[in-house]
Amino acid sequence: MGDDILPSAPRIWEHCEALARCSERADALTRVFLSKEQRAASDLVLGWMREAGMTAKLDEIGNCVGRYEGDRPGLPCLVLGSHLDTVRDAGKYDGMLGVVAAIECVHALNTKGKRLPFAIEVLGFADEEGVRFGCTLLGSRAVAGTFDPTLLEKVDHEGVSMQQALTDFGLDPAQIARAAHQRDDVLAYAELHIEQGPVLEAEGLSVGVVTAINGANRFLIEIDGMAGHAGTVPMNLRQDALAAAAECVLAIERRCASVPELVGTVGKLETLPGATNVIPGKVFFTIDIRSPRDAERLAAAADVEQAMQAICARRKVALKIDPTHEGRTAACAPWLREQIGQAIAAERLPVRELSSGAGHDGMALVDLTDIGMLFVRCKGGVSHNPAEAITLEDADTGARVFLRFIENFRPGDARA
Ligand code: GLV
Ligand code: MN
Ligand code: MN
Repeated sequence: MGDDILPSAPRIWEHCEALARCSERADALTRVFLSKEQRAASDLVLGWMREAGMTAKLDEIGNCVGRYEGDRPGLPCLVLGSHLDTVRDAGKYDGMLGVVAAIECVHALNTKGKRLPFAIEVLGFADEEGVRFGCTLLGSRAVAGTFDPTLLEKVDHEGVSMQQALTDFGLDPAQIARAAHQRDDVLAYAELHIEQGPVLEAEGLSVGVVTAINGANRFLIEIDGMAGHAGTVPMNLRQDALAAAAECVLAIERRCASVPELVGTVGKLETLPGATNVIPGKVFFTIDIRSPRDAERLAAAADVEQAMQAICARRKVALKIDPTHEGRTAACAPWLREQIGQAIAAERLPVRELSSGAGHDGMALVDLTDIGMLFVRCKGGVSHNPAEAITLEDADTGARVFLRFIENFRPGDARA
């Protein structure tokens, strides 16, 4: 690198700890879109961006946007970032590590007084996980210019619409389109993220280059049967919504287990009215289906739908299927893979390429620009779990590689 100012791993660590304290509950990290915890996290992030020499603001959907000008103002930018929202009872690094590490890299550049022949923007996306409104990638879609305004009608668990939540947060839902970046202003998107899987750890590697982000479909399912007395209605006369849902869950598991690398999950299920002595009359559940191959994912989604229809028809319950998300497999651009690989090799580390089973903001950004990702090893491949863990050493290695990638970034390779 030629000089000895490097990203500070202890500061990355402290910042991840500080963000983890912005949580709905003290004992389980949960921070959802447009919550007061998000406000607290954003205030911290905007402050760190400014300390790192960036101008910083919230955009129209609540993303944190920091900008570090290049060797003259107004140059097209390399966009770096990840998300600041979490799942429920989350780990401290999924998303946050990428935002904090990117800020830390800019901090190092600024400390050196170094300007590059392009600008850098660091984005802390306000929603990637989709926990609050059941639809995902809201922050990155706004930036990519693909935010669907019909989603503003979606309501959260308490009946608050996205439109209302944005207004309550002090944002104007009518202005979301202004968060979109223009293609000509963006050179590429690069994200550092924990692997969330076990491959790097199994191979004794601290970092890896992502080849592609697996595509995903998500659905919200409603099954309507007939609530009734658990003691009086004979088994053959029931329209038990939960029994139907249980069959559906097993059909999803069976179908998705039939193809290597295809995965299907029912992660949330709610039974109404929800009493020991009442036959379930209504059930809501979610489905998440993913694969590295789009055709296999789409075939599985179609088969699952057909199987659920057959199950519900036989059981005389009504089925509603609401597709809440579809993201095709997003390939990382070969020229960015190569440049990230070169940064790893320059740190005298082996270059391991791997695909991502987890979804990332790049799935949305790919509609705007070429994307690349650097994975950092996480303990046991555990993620979406409070046990999520990294080492200080790996945070250090990841940030050094990322800074090297940024400093050597050659936008001229874009769309070559
Ligand atoms: C995001 O973390 C996802 O893959 O669901
Ligand atoms: Mn996640
Ligand atoms: Mn993530």
